[in-house]
Amino acid sequence: MAKIQSRKEAHVRIAAKADSEYLKSAGFENIEFVHCSLPEIDLRKVSLSTSFLGRKLSSPLAIEGMTGGYPNASKINRRLAQAANGANIIFGLGSQRAMLKHPELAKTYKVRDVAPDVFLIGNLGAVQLREYSPKAIEGMLKTVDANALALHLNPLQEAVQPEGDLNWAGVLHQVRLLCDAIDVPVIAKETGAGISAKVALQLKEAGVSAINVSGSGGTSWSRVEYKRGKPVPGFEEWGIPTAISLAQCSGILPLIASGGIRNGIDAAKSIALGADISGAARPFLISKNPLSLIREWEMQLRTAMFLTGSKDIAALKRAPITITGRIADSLSAMGLSVVSYFRR
Ligand SMILES: Cc1cc2nc3c(=O)[nH]c(=O)nc-3n(C[C@H](O)[C@H](O)[C@H](O)COP(=O)(O)O)c2cc1C
Repeated sequence: MAKIQSRKEAHVRIAAKADSEYLKSAGFENIEFVHCSLPEIDLRKVSLSTSFLGRKLSSPLAIEGMTGGYPNASKINRRLAQAANGANIIFGLGSQRAMLKHPELAKTYKVRDVAPDVFLIGNLGAVQLREYSPKAIEGMLKTVDANALALHLNPLQEAVQPEGDLNWAGVLHQVRLLCDAIDVPVIAKETGAGISAKVALQLKEAGVSAINVSGSGGTSWSRVEYKRGKPVPGFEEWGIPTAISLAQCSGILPLIASGGIRNGIDAAKSIALGADISGAARPFLISKNPLSLIREWEMQLRTAMFLTGSKDIAALKRAPITITGRIADSLSAMGLSVVSYFRR
């Protein structure tokens, strides 16, 4: 098996273990909805439907990109894509670099025969843009029939792993060239260390269509890399917690929350913090029945909406929340108003 393939396989094996997560949380325990004792709506009529990049979805959930490029990845992608298709939510593929290098691996990413209607997001590392032309990337997306491209920004993972890409000079320029050249919408995505407002604004200016904050508090890539090799130690807890990254990036571009979202209540809180879509990777990787996990999260989301008197996703976005503890401290230190989330 080629190096890139065995690396992808090791990532899935290690990330599936419980101790591959951050010790620090994504921050959702510091976010509380203000309970509403008079919801004045019918729980059964609460609507989870929404739209993202022009596509109507049954609920604002996503299974985040994880894998591809080795034989067993095909099974994982197809199983998860089928569940996402059944629920009409978003599904993401893992990095497609392996299929750019070895075109015969394209089949490990192909899911359209089992997920004909799913909103499918392709995936590539932004640091790899120097190696591949926009035309090659368009071809890569066409091969799997993707609706959008997630361009992942993972400098933490690259910096700590033995075979990482260390030269990140000029990446923003490459992102701009790609956005100018291709018709498919580009989503800039972290892989667990979070995106700041400053970076989100730079990405917007470069032409990306959406941001996936993928903050810290869930899967820790430096922890996964530590278990795999001999990386630079000490960065297991590095990164912007998801709740903080969301509050920073809210309102800049359409926004996906991920990184430590572990149930439908976390998903509801992420939406109240500004997300349009709430996604997760590891929980679906380890789930025995991904479709029933989606249904459970939807039920939790719907119940949280009922208990805040929110009849739809637009109303949930305005539901009052309190932000306390370390998340409030961080936001205040950045000059963001915590009380504005309560008084709305
Ligand atoms: C096994 C595994 C493989 C992943 N591979 C990729 C990848 O190829 N590209 C990418 O953008 N993100 C990748 N991620 C990151 C996830 O998409 C997500 O941003 C991150 O894991 C945070 O979500 P979580 O805490 O729910 O796992 C991977 C995550 C896992 C668990």
